[in-house]
Amino acid sequence: MIYIWAVVVFGGLLTGMAALLVLSEHYLVNYGVCRVDINAGERVLEVDGGQTLLSALIGKEIFIPSACGGRGSCGYCKITVLSGGGVVLPTETPFLIRREIRAGIRLACQVKIRNDLQIRISEEMLSVRRFMATVRHTVTLTYDIKEILFGMNDGEEIVQRPGQYVQIEAPSPDGPVFRAYSISSPAYVRDGVELNVRLLPGGLGSTYLHKLTEGDKVQLTGPYGEFRLNEDQAVEIVCVGGGCGMAPMKNIIYSLYDRWPERKCWLFFGCRSTADVFYLKEFQELAAKHPNFHVVYALSDPVKADEQWDGETGFIHLSVDKYLESSIRRQAFLCGPPPMIEAVTRVLQEKKLRPEDIFYDKF
Ligand SMILES: Cc1cc2nc3c(=O)[nH]c(=O)nc-3n(C[C@H](O)[C@H](O)[C@H](O)COP(=O)(O)OP(=O)(O)OC[C@H]3O[C@@H](n4cnc5c(N)ncnc54)[C@H](O)[C@@H]3O)c2cc1C
Ligand code: FES
Repeated sequence: MIYIWAVVVFGGLLTGMAALLVLSEHYLVNYGVCRVDINAGERVLEVDGGQTLLSALIGKEIFIPSACGGRGSCGYCKITVLSGGGVVLPTETPFLIRREIRAGIRLACQVKIRNDLQIRISEEMLSVRRFMATVRHTVTLTYDIKEILFGMNDGEEIVQRPGQYVQIEAPSPDGPVFRAYSISSPAYVRDGVELNVRLLPGGLGSTYLHKLTEGDKVQLTGPYGEFRLNEDQAVEIVCVGGGCGMAPMKNIIYSLYDRWPERKCWLFFGCRSTADVFYLKEFQELAAKHPNFHVVYALSDPVKADEQWDGETGFIHLSVDKYLESSIRRQAFLCGPPPMIEAVTRVLQEKKLRPEDIFYDKF
């Protein structure tokens, strides 16, 4: 018993001391103005010390991917810190492999500015912009997913690649929060972006987006994301989605058939029940125009007696296993909940897809 008390008291003391350190750093330490040198003098920013590198960059209109809004839980905000970033924190290590740590890769939301820094940011990241946009229409796709189309204001254009995403600024009692949403409209649409948003009860971003109506204005930044479609027409494209992971698939498939009408492509989409099915008719119409496009939807819940369903059943990785032959040159893009991604990745690797040809967004 005495040991338990000792652990509780010692733990409490440590927590108290840590909180005291954080508070005293926040209120008492003044780091003054620090210089952030980007790409060896390409840009030099003067920013207030004490804030995170991510906040300082956003303050200067440099937008780093930050799907979790700086909470340290997505690992998207990686940039290279060449000097001045201090030691890698325990909050960063789950997202960094040894090679990245050796190369100076850090999570911008975890690096606090205490002195001058030298950092490196890719040109692509530097070209991410802020847009003002207006809701053009909203469509209810299922009981919890809405399609929302935003038109860019003032005739501005967004140039995106299939598979990329934008970050929407949503209000919250503690100030704006940022949430990532994949672009569902094809790359040839440049005057706006369409999103498919699933409502998470109590979720800040999705609740805000679901309440928007025609004419409402939003701020967004983008485009973000590394995915690049393989330009070699002989390479088959495989898209596997589940839940609200439809958006990037829709973008990839419509962009693909606009450019290469003969290209071979598979869409596998996993739903729980018929209530979760959307865009099936649209994809079937596209498949009727492009014979090399194959659409497979599967329901994971048992089909009820009153449901009309002549598609596949079971988890979507089983359909992937059933339909895809082995050893064909393919590039795969997966999007959905982590267990789905892991199961599908295993199947694709059994089909001899190389890990570097499998891309995913887990959400
Ligand atoms: C690259 C990328 C692309 C994405 N694309 C899409 C897309 O196309 N469509 C889509 O719908 N989503 C997409 N997402 C997910 C999206 O970014 C958001 O994470 C999602 O909408 C939830 O955000 P939210 O603000 O609504 O919920 P949050 O406010 O982040 O909350 C998430 C959940 O946690 C619960 N919660 C929040 N705070 C607490 C608390 N203090 N205690 C307990 N529970 C809490 C909420 O009730 C909610 O259920 C994508 C994510 C990434 C990384
Ligand atoms: S913004 Fe998500 S980990 Fe840094």
